[in-house]
Amino acid sequence: MALLARGAGVHDEPDVDGLAHALQCGADLRASHPDDVELAVAGLVHDIADIAFPHDHHDHAHRGAELVEPLLGPRVARLVGAHVDAKRYLVATDPAYRARLSPRSIETLELQGDGLDASGIAALASEADLAAILALRRADEYAKDPGARPLPLDSWRPLLGRIAR
Ligand SMILES: [Fe+2]
Ligand SMILES: [Fe+2]
Repeated sequence: MALLARGAGVHDEPDVDGLAHALQCGADLRASHPDDVELAVAGLVHDIADIAFPHDHHDHAHRGAELVEPLLGPRVARLVGAHVDAKRYLVATDPAYRARLSPRSIETLELQGDGLDASGIAALASEADLAAILALRRADEYAKDPGARPLPLDSWRPLLGRIAR
């Protein structure tokens, strides 16, 4: 929570800081998937590497997964680690998805290799947790609203406490 709080004022997207983006993404998943606390928490922490390592976006999904796994466990880590591949999967499989990406996300998509190829699509599609992986990614796209007023970070303490190990 201290690391997330440091996201106030740390920007990857121009219109929302890292804390606002985290809170919006987590809140969206908490509302849409009330029975899946791990998914909501994964949404909250999915870009935590951008806060831990400001201005170094390279491989931020996997580095974020490594950061959270000791505390939040392997499933949250996998959901965090897959969120860039999920973007590349959706770009390749959903014709309407690319238009929902922010300008910054289009810019990083190029560096991330654009849409997945057939073997990449097959690999992600074989994941048992594919639905959650894609739900996180779709929430990520909507969590860039400068006017949103999500619940504050403190509201996450009980949920984090339930899955922290
Ligand atoms: Fe990200
Ligand atoms: Fe994000």
